[in-house]
Amino acid sequence: MTFGPSASLTWPKHRPGRPSDRCRNTSPRLQVTKNVSPLLQTCLHAITYADPLRIPPQRLTAMQHDSMQPARMPQSAVPYVYTAIAPTHDWLAVLVEAKARAFGLQQLAVQNGEHVLEVAVGTGLSFTELVSANPDGWTEGLDRTPAMLRQTARRMQTAPHQRFGLRLGDAYALPYPDNTFDAVLNSYMFDMLPVADFTTVLREFRRVLKPGGRCVCINMTVPTHWTERLWDTLYALFPPLLGGCRGITLAPSMRKAGFADVRRTRIVQRTFPSEIVVGFC
Ligand SMILES: C[S@@+](CC[C@H](N)C(=O)[O-])C[C@H]1O[C@@H](n2cnc3c(N)ncnc32)[C@H](O)[C@@H]1O
Repeated sequence: MTFGPSASLTWPKHRPGRPSDRCRNTSPRLQVTKNVSPLLQTCLHAITYADPLRIPPQRLTAMQHDSMQPARMPQSAVPYVYTAIAPTHDWLAVLVEAKARAFGLQQLAVQNGEHVLEVAVGTGLSFTELVSANPDGWTEGLDRTPAMLRQTARRMQTAPHQRFGLRLGDAYALPYPDNTFDAVLNSYMFDMLPVADFTTVLREFRRVLKPGGRCVCINMTVPTHWTERLWDTLYALFPPLLGGCRGITLAPSMRKAGFADVRRTRIVQRTFPSEIVVGFC
């Protein structure tokens, strides 16, 4: 299965000690899903993470105090949930994320000739823009869900040029040498990771950026108005409904990871709250 000129054909080996998989991956129900069809696996995962009647009190408290809820969908569930979501992902993304995405791309301000990386490229909504702006450079897209990468590859069939690569990989261990990229973009991925992993992953972004490089992260953010609480409430009831994303604030972790001049902008579209966080190496 290839995705583009520099496609990698190997799935990264599972690393058992990964912090994010400490969430809830020991369920026996997950163990029995190995030999059944992907659709059935997706349904079993959905059932595993559906516990509308068992919202722990600390999560309700978090919802009332504009703070981050703990991550409840382990990273090991991402490929299953996003395989199910891939065909319909863009409907909600276009309806509620378009303004934040456009602002994030404007902040990244890709210059023709640069080396650019998008981590968690998804279906390629931003990737097409990055590639179009960079005909003489190189634009790399990475994601850990093959079904999402296939959507991007399909979208890129009408790309204005071929100076891009799509790769199966993991944000926790980017398959690139140090100091490779001028700019890194990431959207709507940190909002599904445990807070304890934010700095680890951001340090990985920093490692592959050149000195002076820039990083733009776009996320669902914590609600500040009652109309915005709908989305975090949906997550509290059933995380896969929102692709495992809940409201977060990334700027403190970005500073902790060593980024300088960190700036945060908040954009709400149809009550959906997003943040755009920019930092420099
Ligand atoms: C909500 S989608 C966002 C896709 C795209 N960035 C966008 O804004 O449309 C989240 C994406 O993050 C990817 N993802 C989640 N965890 C990841 C990880 N550790 N490494 C790489 N991709 C990851 C999922 O496979 C999925 O494609």
